[in-house]
Amino acid sequence: MKEFGTLYPHFLHGADYNPDQWLSYPEVLEQDPRMMAQAHCNCMSVGIFSWAVLEPEEGVYRFEELDRTIKRLSARGIKTILATPSGARPRWLAERYPEVLRVNKAGLRQHYSDRHNHCFTSPIYREKTVAIDRQLALRYGKDPNVILWHISNEYSGECHCQLCQEAFRQWLKKKYDNDLDKLNHAWWSAFWSHTVTDWAQIHPPMQTGEPDHIMTGLYLDWRSFVTHQTVDFMKMEIDTIREVCPNVPVTTNMMWTPQQIDYHDFKDYIDVVSWDAYPSWHEKDQIRCAVDAAFNHNYFRCLKHKPFLLMESTPSNTNWHAVNKLKRPGMHRLASLQAVAHGSDSVQYFQWRKGRGGSEKFHGAVIDHNGKASGRVFEDVRQMGISLEKLDQVCGTSTHAKVAIVYDLKNHWALSNASGFINEDKQYVKTCLQHYKSFWKRGVDVDVISVGEPLEGYDLVIMPMLYSLPQEQIERIEQYVAQGGTVVATYTTGYVNETDLCYLGGFPGQKLKDVFGLTADEIDSLYPEEQNTVLWGEESYTVVDYCELVTPTTAQVLGTYGADFYKGMPALLKNNYKTGEAYYIACRDTGALTDRLYAQLLQERKIKTYALPEGATITSRAQYLFVQNYNDHPITVPLPATYRDLETGALYKGAIALEALGVAVLCPEA
Ligand code: GLA
Ligand code: ZN
Repeated sequence: MKEFGTLYPHFLHGADYNPDQWLSYPEVLEQDPRMMAQAHCNCMSVGIFSWAVLEPEEGVYRFEELDRTIKRLSARGIKTILATPSGARPRWLAERYPEVLRVNKAGLRQHYSDRHNHCFTSPIYREKTVAIDRQLALRYGKDPNVILWHISNEYSGECHCQLCQEAFRQWLKKKYDNDLDKLNHAWWSAFWSHTVTDWAQIHPPMQTGEPDHIMTGLYLDWRSFVTHQTVDFMKMEIDTIREVCPNVPVTTNMMWTPQQIDYHDFKDYIDVVSWDAYPSWHEKDQIRCAVDAAFNHNYFRCLKHKPFLLMESTPSNTNWHAVNKLKRPGMHRLASLQAVAHGSDSVQYFQWRKGRGGSEKFHGAVIDHNGKASGRVFEDVRQMGISLEKLDQVCGTSTHAKVAIVYDLKNHWALSNASGFINEDKQYVKTCLQHYKSFWKRGVDVDVISVGEPLEGYDLVIMPMLYSLPQEQIERIEQYVAQGGTVVATYTTGYVNETDLCYLGGFPGQKLKDVFGLTADEIDSLYPEEQNTVLWGEESYTVVDYCELVTPTTAQVLGTYGADFYKGMPALLKNNYKTGEAYYIACRDTGALTDRLYAQLLQERKIKTYALPEGATITSRAQYLFVQNYNDHPITVPLPATYRDLETGALYKGAIALEALGVAVLCPEA
């Protein structure tokens, strides 16, 4: 593994740069690097969709344009992040070898179209990708201007061709030790006479075949296989690059979670995590949006528990949200520094210059169709470049969170396809965000981790709706609490194992009954217009959607239901288990109950919190505080000591005033 930052130990500031679209506009190609320098950009991502230019005919490589681009950039002191072009294939490749095109869920082979439309199993696609990647590595691997490899682009999607189906069967054979009995048991295939008697009978879930939610064991294995196949393809690309060029780090750009692939399985192969963030700023609930973006940044930081890169963001609007709002004055700075606050060592954009044509011509970019290095968006970008230069000492620093939220993609897939409870939407992500908000609004840093990661070292571990729990995770939770940790779990915890088989002997599965000191016997689902309450001490809290009926064994009852036939039954419980504590919230509350619980737990554990106005937060990176205001009005934020503003040098004693959408980066004054 190469440490990112050894080749360029400063914040990266730049964009995706697509000069291929401008080859017949030499004046534009000349102007770009000068304007980039004016915008205080120091880095461009190049070559992401360049395959047709780099290999116009099979086996004929033309690197002159790319040579010129890298040279022109470096003449202005701008570094290159060089992409492998496998995110979109040239026409000749699809025409000559139709197997490289995907077969969709309906079983139809796609025509040449779009991007990200290629089979990850196809030996031809693999061979052609390796060939061009190798050529790129040979040509640019030693170029000091190339500081990072950008492997492909936003790996995603799935293919149902015969090659992929056969690879799926081979993957299953390995997973189930070549034993169909094991597979049949894991998939509970006796249900509706689905017993598999030959590996060849297995097909992925398809539109004309098994729906996702009928044989969920099959569905979950298919999701894991698709992740596996994607990672395997990425690994092949990385190995090709590293073989020639072992000293330059690699990344791949990921997308907003949740996706249909699990990024946790990517993390061990890349040197640095990067992701593309496009929050829907200025939606009706701006704070929800800020919390969601913060949660995502934390998720990507925690893939490697290291600083990450913001590989794409828009300097103004997107073109693919339902409504594409411009960033209001202040939002560009706020959103960019939010990423930095949560651990990003870059602020990169999509894209440098708006194309004249194609579907992304109205997507925000640093340079608009007017071609000018001026105007509101350009100025926002330029100012961000200046800010990042002033914040240099923050680059590379780490976050130390005492609280973790377990948010797991495989759990999300299992829960969202479970037939039962409320079928329309189980609201797993929304629930995680609601729990996270209690920490966000108190300025408490949180790690967002997956099932399988160590829990030791955290003072508090929150596990909302952790429905699907492999045996090993149950052991991990038990150990953590036994050794003095505190966990908070909710309704639907530990109902099933990793192939969606219910735990027998009562929920939550196995040892968790002892850890939480209860059994969850039944779960009631509420219509949207229905509510219940929980009485906790003198207070009453609103409950929606889910009320689980639990029987305590050793747990102490803190709160009880206020209505219905389960009135008076436990709804909030605490269990002392060995040297730790385990809390169980049996219902979905609208936020106030969990918030009170978390305020109490933070205080008892002496975890530092800030008293913040609504809509404000503080995020820490090493000793630096990022004070952020997501309100459209000014606020004053109380501070526990005296701080110096890293950009302006101003001193703040006891409080800082922030304008609407304001943000300041502070350092404690000795
Ligand atoms: C993604 C892609 C880019 C571009 C942007 C637009 O992140 O990686 O190529 O399409 O979206 O928002
Ligand atoms: Zn395929």
